[in-house]
Amino acid sequence: MPPEAAATPIAPGRVLLGAEIIARRVEELGAEIAVAYQGRELTVVALYNGAVFFAADLLRHLPGAVRFEALCVASYEGTGSTGTIRFRQEPLPDLAGRDVLLVDDILDTGQTLRAVCQRLQAETAPATLRTAVLLHKQRATAAGLRADWTGFEIGDEFVIGYGLDFNGLYRNLPYIALAK
Ligand code: IMP
Ligand code: MG
Repeated sequence: MPPEAAATPIAPGRVLLGAEIIARRVEELGAEIAVAYQGRELTVVALYNGAVFFAADLLRHLPGAVRFEALCVASYEGTGSTGTIRFRQEPLPDLAGRDVLLVDDILDTGQTLRAVCQRLQAETAPATLRTAVLLHKQRATAAGLRADWTGFEIGDEFVIGYGLDFNGLYRNLPYIALAK
């Protein structure tokens, strides 16, 4: 057994959102986003690794001229945010004058989206910058945060699958489950 797995007490528990439910919602979000950017060139910036599935599935529902960039950031260790956002990739993509949609897996404390939005605004000067997240935790609602597009609202439990990990594990699950 690899050392990481041996030190990991967490396993997939109850399925919160099955693969078909996720697929239907991502298709709906794609349709809404397509209408919002109709006739304009869109640049999707996905926050990796967490948004890997959401971004890939969402992109397939966006017609027309769409660019794609990935930005590698990390904040979580285990099941808690470290509070510091590390950009693992420099330089930032060239987004000057572009209509940018920032895509992430989940809005929790909001620190990640806030830090990334601030840096993109300050250093790349996009024409517009909006956000889409697949999941939105209650904590984000309590803090008055909201992405421009949200897939599902969930409780404050730690979830894994469909890109979301625990210590690097379980991103591969095609559904979203509670961690147990
Ligand atoms: P925030 O900065 O606190 O909003 O957290 C956003 C980031 O934390 C996301 O991009 C996820 O990578 C990670 N995260 C937050 N909640 C969870 C969870 O329940 N499971 C796995 N990762 C999470
Ligand atoms: Mg993440």
